[in-house]
Amino acid sequence: MSEHIEKRREGAVLSLVLARPEKKNALTAAMYDALSLAFAEANRADDIGAILISGKGGVFTAGNDIGDFLRAVGSPDASPGVRFLHALNGLERPLVAAVEGPAIGIGTTLCFHCDLVYAAPTTRFQMPFVDLALVPEAASSLLAPRRFGMARAAQALLLAEPFDAAEACRLGLINAVVETDALYAHALDKAKALAAKPRAALLATRKLLRGDTNVIKARMAEENRAFGQAVRSDEARAIFSAFLQKTKAS
Ligand code: COA
Repeated sequence: MSEHIEKRREGAVLSLVLARPEKKNALTAAMYDALSLAFAEANRADDIGAILISGKGGVFTAGNDIGDFLRAVGSPDASPGVRFLHALNGLERPLVAAVEGPAIGIGTTLCFHCDLVYAAPTTRFQMPFVDLALVPEAASSLLAPRRFGMARAAQALLLAEPFDAAEACRLGLINAVVETDALYAHALDKAKALAAKPRAALLATRKLLRGDTNVIKARMAEENRAFGQAVRSDEARAIFSAFLQKTKAS
């Protein structure tokens, strides 16, 4: 387990907290592995009815750790990030997110896979893959146009324009905007409400709502092939280095 993922039980809800606030909860390989493991455990545990994911320190997540992108070696298919995406697609419990502050990259694309998402007014969603000389992940190239329509998906994925919680609500990415002070408790209440439903009916309904997850799996694989090449390109590596040097200098 990673010390940067806090795991606790709230009744029948498994609460997972991204807890690396000094790095804006940027996700490392160890954090992805800890989340994948927690999902696998939840799939097997009869006493877990729902999962709640949130971030510590007023931030959801600044996305993948950019230092890890620079260190990317080996087969992209075997990376902890890719394993996490498949674990997310294969998750058999409802997933609720409480989002505040930056929700960048996977911080936004994760929300497409959640059953319910609540976000504070401070939230800033962004999918800056193209700006980083990367391509979308988490099947967001499929799920963003499905959810937003093509015009708005192009704004989010080609122009990489950020959007706030109110806009995310209009776009259908989140369920409601909730004041920061009430956010965690509100999302937890909803997760508990899901966990208290008749389990088989809830899971069967969730499966029907999600449709064919093999289509998502196939798109993830296609994206991962392109991503694996892009992340190793000179252009992307120069952008990652510039980000890390700038934040260190400031
Ligand atoms: N990977 C690695 N480190 C990150 C990071 C990331 N994705 N995001 C932030 N950090 C680190 C910074 O390097 C900095 O570290 P330092 O204190 O050792 O210098 C620390 O977290 C604080 O970040 P900083 O940029 O100073 O905070 P900020 O409040 O000015 O800005 C963000 C916050 C999230 C807007 C900004 O950090 C950012 O744009 N991060 C990168 C987002 C991104 O492109 N993610 C990849 C998506 S695929």
